[in-house]
Amino acid sequence: MIQKCLFPAAGYGTRFLPATKAIPKEMLPVLTKPLLQYGVEEAIEAGCETMAIVTGRGKRAIEDHFDVSYELEHQIKGTSKEHYLNEIRSVMDNCTFSYTRQIEMKGLGHAILTGETLIGHEDSFAVILADDLCDNANGQTVLRQMANIHKKYPDCCVVAIEEIPMTDTNKYGVIAGNLIEENVYKVDNMVEKPESKDAPSNLAIIGRYILIPQIFDVLRDTKPGKGGEIQITDALLTLAKQGKVLAYKFSGVRFDCGSVDGFVEATNYFYKKSNLK
Ligand code: UTP
Repeated sequence: MIQKCLFPAAGYGTRFLPATKAIPKEMLPVLTKPLLQYGVEEAIEAGCETMAIVTGRGKRAIEDHFDVSYELEHQIKGTSKEHYLNEIRSVMDNCTFSYTRQIEMKGLGHAILTGETLIGHEDSFAVILADDLCDNANGQTVLRQMANIHKKYPDCCVVAIEEIPMTDTNKYGVIAGNLIEENVYKVDNMVEKPESKDAPSNLAIIGRYILIPQIFDVLRDTKPGKGGEIQITDALLTLAKQGKVLAYKFSGVRFDCGSVDGFVEATNYFYKKSNLK
């Protein structure tokens, strides 16, 4: 059982400037809920009880969101508006939160390594990038589907993948591997943001990972890669060479809410599904 989920949320979100000048990207709402809350709800559904969040400067709104707002709660208690807080109360009743700060933004791999102090070395853990917003097709969240695979292969990391157009490979970590069961690949190569001519396949890693604790030692030894950042893809390649990385083609949909197009698509999708219409 995966009990802890790490949320790297220290990035600058430059693609959403000026909105992200004073508001963390992870707090941008799709309908009425911030991206990060969707991620936390997914982690709870997958069985996680501890949310470990890597923040940075200017990200205090995240901590306030997952805390009680006494004045607000007092104001709306007993009124017709009280139900608006039901979902966030339920989140807070079902998990605990801990935080640490990434002082310098040295990449996703570095952000995950910064979370080591919150995660420890005992068990495998999940990582959710909240700007990749997922919705499940078959009643199980993407992270739950991945946890089921990890239960079968507890010595392996699991990364979520989807098929992308070859023209988009330079936006993702891309894997190559052998199919070992339906939708599950044993990874033997992975490349961060390759040009399409250099990409080993069109199978791209999205923002969901289950990682074994060994990843921290590997990350410590991983040199800065593409863009001068410490890349989780490079660290995972080290583990893949030891036969310890699986890629899982999930069922469901994913929206890249770190880009304006993906954010608008997600908003339309969730609005159609909602009872706000
Ligand atoms: P992104 O590259 O999508 O996020 O990183 P960004 O840098 O915030 O966005 P842009 O490109 O400037 O618009 C993927 C995830 O990794 C986290 C981000 O917060 C995001 O969730 N991240 C990235 C960190 O926590 N620290 C880093 O140093 C880099």
